[in-house]
Amino acid sequence: MVDRSPFVVVANRLPVDEIPNDTPGGRVTGTGDQQRRWRRSPGGLVTALHPVLVEHHGTWIGWAGTPGDVAPEPFELDGINIHPVPLSEDDLERYYEGQSNATIWPLYHDNVEPPVFRRRWREAYRVVNRRYAEAAAAVAAPGATVWVQDYQLQLVPAMLRELRPDLKIGFFLHIPFPPIELFMQLPQRAEVLRGLLGADLVGFQQRLAAQNFLRLAKHLLGTPYHGNVIEYEGRQVKADAFPISIDVGEMERLADNPLVRERAKQIRAELGDPKTVILGVDRLDYTKGIEHRLKAFRELLAAGKLTVPESVMVQVATPSRERVEHYQALRIKVEREVGRINGDFGRVGVPAVHYLHQSYSRSELAALYCAADVMMVTPLRDGMNLVAKEYVAARLDHGGALVLSEFAGAAGEMRQAFLCNPHDLDAVKDALMRAVTVDQHEARRRIGVMQRHLRRHDVARWASDFLTELGATS
Ligand code: ADP
Ligand code: G6P
Repeated sequence: MVDRSPFVVVANRLPVDEIPNDTPGGRVTGTGDQQRRWRRSPGGLVTALHPVLVEHHGTWIGWAGTPGDVAPEPFELDGINIHPVPLSEDDLERYYEGQSNATIWPLYHDNVEPPVFRRRWREAYRVVNRRYAEAAAAVAAPGATVWVQDYQLQLVPAMLRELRPDLKIGFFLHIPFPPIELFMQLPQRAEVLRGLLGADLVGFQQRLAAQNFLRLAKHLLGTPYHGNVIEYEGRQVKADAFPISIDVGEMERLADNPLVRERAKQIRAELGDPKTVILGVDRLDYTKGIEHRLKAFRELLAAGKLTVPESVMVQVATPSRERVEHYQALRIKVEREVGRINGDFGRVGVPAVHYLHQSYSRSELAALYCAADVMMVTPLRDGMNLVAKEYVAARLDHGGALVLSEFAGAAGEMRQAFLCNPHDLDAVKDALMRAVTVDQHEARRRIGVMQRHLRRHDVARWASDFLTELGATS
């Protein structure tokens, strides 16, 4: 049994990866058949919360990444208590792939694909949320702070409050929060809203999302609000915006590493030393506008405004949620488009688009960022988009240009990007051409301004802003 913690993070996934038993290093748990080896997973959220977790002997509750009815025993890794919650195959299908990623994910992203509604998914979502809430109730010390993360766990705040009214509960939504008309489509709408209202502080990426939430509560439950505070069942619930960021220092260190710089040169050489390398890095997700940017590139090639081999595109599309239908359909569409472009414009040994359906290490990603003249981030809707921030932070040479969708949360802060509406193909083409042809002085100015902003607003500040405001709630 893990000691009770004064600070608890609850997220769908744990910040750890299980690695093969024959890999050197890592933290070993269990013995014999049960032996497992773990490593901390890369990522801004865990980096930001790590110092707070270590200082307060904190616990992270989440799924360890392998389906099963029984979770591994809790263990300690790098000063954090890791508390696994089990998810069975059925839970994965209904709670994770179903309700979280086929209902809520598309609905909260402006219905860019139609959400699917199934009663049995809803029930599984409830059951799994209760499991996480019970785990948090069991590990939280009296009066502890519990920070619940993201759309998979929206019922947890209310469930946890019922079990443990003594706790200070925060919730942060990493994805957009939809306008009232869209949210009202959700069959579980009142339950989800009441779930979130169980928190003392509900954090969003953008001000508009917080406003959607305040208005929704009034519309659906008739709860009055003053400023950004809702009066709910004799308590006050605050809703505010906390735009998330990246570990800027980590990306700068990677980009400054001679091995990474050498690798960036090598990538360009392997691409045939083109004049312009255009890069996309996304999970293979239909919200990311991957097809839109491929189409823009194709039309520019067809019009002769860009040519191969002077210009090449690299599209990294990380495998994601592969058993969900919309994701399978997207993969087919993207791969067909890549094939079409390469068929029409590639040359022997020089494809126009290098398509990589793989995961990469942080240093390989940094090398790709450093190698790219233009980064294309064109989501149809995105809570924030950390790739856009990572690219800017990696350009210590002040080179490169960022094409950024107006519908990414990052566009609220990164006004010096080449902003565009991804639904307007001509606007995407125009932004891409402006980025390709921008003069060096102007490009450096733009990147410089965005870098200064990022240095002042990194993920550690995001976490401390949220926790300070949570601490100040009554
Ligand atoms: P989302 O959270 O929707 O996937 P973000 O852009 O906000 O989108 O965050 C994606 C994160 O995943 C970034 O930190 C990025 O570096 C990382 N990432 C994206 N593609 C890969 C990949 N192929 N390999 C490893 N990490 C990746
Ligand atoms: C987005 C979500 C996260 C999620 C991540 C990866 O960033 O906001 O909650 O963890 O995508 O998706 P996955 O389904 O693989 O956890």
